[in-house]
Amino acid sequence: AGASESLITEIQDWNRYPGDGVDARPYGKPSEFEAHVVRKNVPWLTSDAISSVNFTPLHELDGIITPSGLCFERHHAGIAEIEPANHRLMIHGLVERPLVFTMADLKRFPRENKVYFLECAANTGMEWRGAQLNGCQFTHGMIHCLMYTGVRLKHLLDEAGVKTEGKWLLAEGADASGMTRSIPLDKALDDCMVAFGMNGEALRPEQGYPIRLVVPGWEGNMWVKWLRRLEIGDQPWQHREETSKYTDLMANGKARRFTFEMDVKSVITNPSPQAPILHGRGPLVLSGLAWSGKGRISRVDVSMDGGRNWTTARLDGPSLPKALHRFYHEFDWDGSDLFLQSRAIDEHGFVQPTKDQLRSVRGANSIYHNNGIQTWHVNSDGVIENVEVS
Ligand code: MTE
Ligand code: CO
Repeated sequence: AGASESLITEIQDWNRYPGDGVDARPYGKPSEFEAHVVRKNVPWLTSDAISSVNFTPLHELDGIITPSGLCFERHHAGIAEIEPANHRLMIHGLVERPLVFTMADLKRFPRENKVYFLECAANTGMEWRGAQLNGCQFTHGMIHCLMYTGVRLKHLLDEAGVKTEGKWLLAEGADASGMTRSIPLDKALDDCMVAFGMNGEALRPEQGYPIRLVVPGWEGNMWVKWLRRLEIGDQPWQHREETSKYTDLMANGKARRFTFEMDVKSVITNPSPQAPILHGRGPLVLSGLAWSGKGRISRVDVSMDGGRNWTTARLDGPSLPKALHRFYHEFDWDGSDLFLQSRAIDEHGFVQPTKDQLRSVRGANSIYHNNGIQTWHVNSDGVIENVEVS
C-alpha cells in the first residue's frame, strides 16, 4: 500500500468509539470477518447429512492444532447428545472383574495430554482414479489434530484384569449407528486413550462428548466416539466396519483386511485451489501439512515442476509422533506455470509414493488409504487446479 493510504491517515470508527465490554462474549467466537472459515460438506457424496462427512478447511489454517469448531465430522447416525451424568463405560468379556465406569470414576485415574492427528481411512479416497475434488479441504480435509486429555486405556484394562486368553478388544459407541471395531490388545495396551478433553476443554459433541477412544496413528474409524462398551475377546469380531467397509480391494479382486495404520502423507495447503495466488509475482509463502501413523516426520520435499526437481522444505513448530507437522517453503514466484507437489518422509524412512506407484501395487478399486502425492497446477494468473501428472 502507498504512503498516502487513507486507512492510516484517517481515524477509523473502531479507533474512535469504545467496543463491547467483557460480558458481551462469555464464550468467544472468531471475528465476523472470518465467517467463511467453516467445515463444508460435499452434498453429492452422501444421500443425507445424518450418515455423512464434512471437511476441515485446511487451506484457512496454520500451525498443527485444528481449532475445535473446525474439526471435520464423520457420523454414521448423526451426533449423539449425551448428558455426562447419564453416560457409562462398560468393560467386560475376558476379564477378571467386569466393570462399569461413570464419568466421575474415569476422572480419578491418572491423566495424560497428547497431541495426535485423526485421519479417516477414506481421506483422499475420491482421488484413486484421477483428480476429482478441487480443493485440499475436500481432497485431504478428513483429518484433524488436537491435544487430547484423558486416561490411558491400559489403566482401565488393568483395573478390570484382562485374562491371558484376551487378545482383541471390541469398542462400541453409544450413538444410533452401533459403531463397533475390533482392536488388537497390544495396541490397546500401548498408546490408546479414553479421552474426555480436546484442546484444553471438554470434547465437542461432534467429537464424541463425553468420551471417545483415541487410537494414535490408526484409521479414524477405530476412534469410537460416545464410547460406551469395551469387550475383551480372543479374536476379532468381523463386524461390518472391518469386513464390508474399511478393507482394501486390490487389483486381483482380493481385499486386504485390518490395514489399521495410516501411512506417511502430506499436502500443500497454500497455495491450493481454494487459496489461489492473488498477490502476483514475487515473494510467496508456500505451506502445508505432513503426517505419519508410524511416528514423526523427518523431512518434507516440495517440487514446482511435477516431481522432476525437489527442494527440502522447512519444518516449523513442534515435531510430535503421530501428530501433524507444519512445513513452509518461501520462494520468489516468477509468474510461470507451476505443478506443485509435496513428498513426506517419516522417521522410519517411509517415503510418500506417487499416485502411479500406489496404483501399481493397489490397483484403482480402493477407497481407503490413498497417501499418494498430490499435484496442484498454478497458472500465470495464480488460479489453481487439482491435476495429476505422470
Ligand atoms: N464413532 C461412532 N460412535 N460413530 C461414528 O459414526 N465415525 C468414525 C469414528 N468414530 C464414528 C465413530 C469415523 S469413520 C471417523 S473417520 C471418525 O470417528 C471421525 O471423527 P470426527 O468426527 O471427530 O472427525
Ligand atoms: Co472415517
